[in-house]
Amino acid sequence: MAEERGNVAEQSAVFPPPKEFQKTAYIQSLDEYRERYERSIRDPEGYWGEVAEEFHWFKKWNQVRKWEEPWVEWFVGAETNLCYNCVDRHLNTERRHKAAIVFEGEPGDVRTLTYQQLHDEVCRVANVLKGLGLQKGDRVAVYMPMIPELAIVLLACARLGIIHSVIFGGFSAEAVRERVNDATCKAVITADGGWRRAKIVPLKETVDKALADGACPSVEKVLVFKRCGNDIPWTEGRDVWWHEAIAEASTDCPVEPLDAQHPAFILYTSGSTGKPKGVQHAVGGYMVYTAHTAKYIFDLKDTDLYWCTADIGWITGHSYIVYGPLANGATVFMYEGAPDTPNWGRFWEMIERHRITILYTAPTAIRAFIRQGNQWVTQHDLSSLRLLGTVGEPINPDAWLWYYRVVGKERCPIVDTWWQTETGGILISPLPGATPTKPGSATLPFFGVEPDVVDQDGKPVPTGEQGFLVIRQPWPGMMRTLWGDPDRYRQSYWEVIPHVYFTGDGAMRDRDGYFWILGRIDDVVNISGHRIGTAEVEHALVGHPAVAEAAVIGVPDELTGQALVCFVTLKSGYQKSDEIKGQLVEQVASVIGKFARPKEIRFTDALPKTRSGKIMRRLLRKVALRDPSLGNIDTLEDISVLAKLQADEE
Ligand code: PRX
Repeated sequence: MAEERGNVAEQSAVFPPPKEFQKTAYIQSLDEYRERYERSIRDPEGYWGEVAEEFHWFKKWNQVRKWEEPWVEWFVGAETNLCYNCVDRHLNTERRHKAAIVFEGEPGDVRTLTYQQLHDEVCRVANVLKGLGLQKGDRVAVYMPMIPELAIVLLACARLGIIHSVIFGGFSAEAVRERVNDATCKAVITADGGWRRAKIVPLKETVDKALADGACPSVEKVLVFKRCGNDIPWTEGRDVWWHEAIAEASTDCPVEPLDAQHPAFILYTSGSTGKPKGVQHAVGGYMVYTAHTAKYIFDLKDTDLYWCTADIGWITGHSYIVYGPLANGATVFMYEGAPDTPNWGRFWEMIERHRITILYTAPTAIRAFIRQGNQWVTQHDLSSLRLLGTVGEPINPDAWLWYYRVVGKERCPIVDTWWQTETGGILISPLPGATPTKPGSATLPFFGVEPDVVDQDGKPVPTGEQGFLVIRQPWPGMMRTLWGDPDRYRQSYWEVIPHVYFTGDGAMRDRDGYFWILGRIDDVVNISGHRIGTAEVEHALVGHPAVAEAAVIGVPDELTGQALVCFVTLKSGYQKSDEIKGQLVEQVASVIGKFARPKEIRFTDALPKTRSGKIMRRLLRKVALRDPSLGNIDTLEDISVLAKLQADEE
């Protein structure tokens, strides 16, 4: 963990907020931040009640927070609507004809939707959803490319209280099936395809594979947007073309006032078992939290063109492409495709052409750009940029410094934002006009957030020491439960260390109270900011006929942050071969998705286990990292012998 990050004490450079930025920032000094922070912790109900006044409520709350561990309710008794607050609310203001979404497709097609146009499209789609028989409380799976229609679908669901479950377009048919069935989705919304690296991602075909042979009995309808015009399979009676359904749909669709505790959406993420967790957020708290964080952490102004490069298939896209920025009436830039198409200049060229002012991306992307050489960046005029952000994984100081100097020209503050699918919004981050930054540190908690670094018993560890990152009290964006599995919610988050929210991350707090996130301490691996459970990968591997047993670990990787190494024992009758290795990599791609492809498959005759049969992952990690303390362990036989020896030692 810590060894991977280098010596923290050496990373002591401090960068004050750039002066020009500071002048117009919402929060302009550390004192101002601290004063507000202390108030938010002392009186969370007063604080969040005041923040919530900025939004539209059909009915006011009678209590700001009700907390009976592990169950929280925010804005008890209130009624509101996410879509109303993200769209309709802006129509009676000057924002009505302002761009809500500026979109660029990978082939270069550009579209702009004003708030009024967004409203009309959302209403039409909401009417289509009604026409398909969907209503409040129903679950709908969304498997779409990064096009405006994806945001429109989310907002249309939110308008009616339909619970969306977005499945990232990189997931396989099997992963889609599992998620659709877990939430018993009544419909799937997809597209014929999406553009990525000048090729068509065959989304509809994958949906058909997922639903084949009655594998998803709850699904009644599949709504299909035509994006690429590719040939697709069609099931009469079930499949509906978006453009046909919408042709007659009205731009008038009343908003459904929803109880603030109504589920906003489900989003699946990986945990330490093989079964993905359906993280469930609630309308009122999620809205207030994502909007408030977006405003202060990205210092969002009406003049900004804000670009978050994440996919809406992940929480970052939900909270900081769709709900948070739109609730602020911001203009959001959306891009469909890959950063290297047609070449590595694509991002920078778009920033120049559209005059993008805020860029929020992942450390993996930054490292990939560094590899390609500065010329891709420096040949473009990036003077429109005023703020940079990162998310998804720890950022190494070298990547941070490159981002700061080469992209931001030392004019733009960097917000390194730490959070999770479960937290709904950002919990630890600098405020760009207030917080001096240190490369590699997510710095200080956001308003209302009380993190701590503790040992196994929940006792705070001394400054400078590593421990578990926990949060001491709920915040409005906190998940409410896991879909259909409240026990797992309680056990995974509130019982690992009693009476605190357990993040699954290791962390260290330095003398200035800054948090340094050290990465996951559970069986979750972070590849290019994508969260993958090692148990899911093991499950995929043992699904191959040749595999007897599999153990999967994460190892550091220069480009992707972490990478998967899989130790596999074969059933008798199967020979170790490169062919089987290739098949196993494909097996993982087809069960989970291509983004989860392992970096390395290693055959072994035995896996190191304790006497009670638990796989000794720590030892495997040493093997994978060629730890010198193990001697030369480069051959298969060595690993097996070692496995036997170590097992005997236990
Ligand atoms: O390990 C942390 C890492 O990503 C995990 C959450 O993953 P996910 O739920 O997919 O959400 C990703 C986007 C919010 C965390 O437990 N992580 C996220 N942001 C950071 C981070 N690690 C270090 N620094 C960050 N800024």
